Amino acid sequence: MNLTIRLLNQCSKPSGWLGRMNLWSMNRRHSKLTEWGLKHVSIRNHGSILDVGCGGGRTVARLAAMATEGKTYGIDYSEASVAASRRTNRKRIAVGRVEILSGSVSHLPFPDQTFDLVTAVETHYYWPDLNADMREILRVLKTGGALIIIAEAYKGGKHDQLLQRLEKLRGLMHYAHLSVGEHSELFSKAGYSDVQVFEEYTKGWICAAGRKPQ
Ligand SMILES: C[S@@+](CC[C@H](N)C(=O)[O-])C[C@H]1O[C@@H](n2cnc3c(N)ncnc32)[C@H](O)[C@@H]1O
Repeated sequence: MNLTIRLLNQCSKPSGWLGRMNLWSMNRRHSKLTEWGLKHVSIRNHGSILDVGCGGGRTVARLAAMATEGKTYGIDYSEASVAASRRTNRKRIAVGRVEILSGSVSHLPFPDQTFDLVTAVETHYYWPDLNADMREILRVLKTGGALIIIAEAYKGGKHDQLLQRLEKLRGLMHYAHLSVGEHSELFSKAGYSDVQVFEEYTKGWICAAGRKPQ
């Protein structure tokens, strides 16, 4: 039980050598999911983009490769994730195309109306106050800008049985288990427009998106 909690904590806030190994592995494990999810949003080549909970930094690298004239930021509250993301993106950081910051989704160190796109892959269910954190992202989005949330863990999904087995542990760690409909509600309640939720049930993938209204 202790080991399971330790391993789960390594996903919610990676640290130490176990965290470094996990970040390296997540960079590979989440690649196909991320590729699928990002197909649901348009990425302009001069866009300003933020990846929240950037982990090992592979999504930041992918986004920066798409927004060739823009700037891509990553932010994470784990020092191990920040270090891993910086390593993954060191060449683009050196030429000023990528920046990785340490910080929480709850207090983003950016002015209002900064980003065309914010992405969050396999992280939102860990956030401390999901509703308030969604509004904090809305603040830093430009009018018309989009937030896209991509995940494998959701209520009613293919991996639900495993997640149900971990139910007992949820009292010991913070975790939001939302259905397709609850994801839609989450975006609408926080003030997003054009809300859409896509599900790839056979893979166990979900992707929810919304825009900052005019
Ligand atoms: C499961 S990992 C996913 C990492 C990466 N997005 C990926 O797809 O491989 C979750 C990441 O979210 C970060 N995270 C969790 N809660 C956070 C918060 N409140 N603020 C910023 N980052 C957070 C963790 O530190 C971790 O790096």
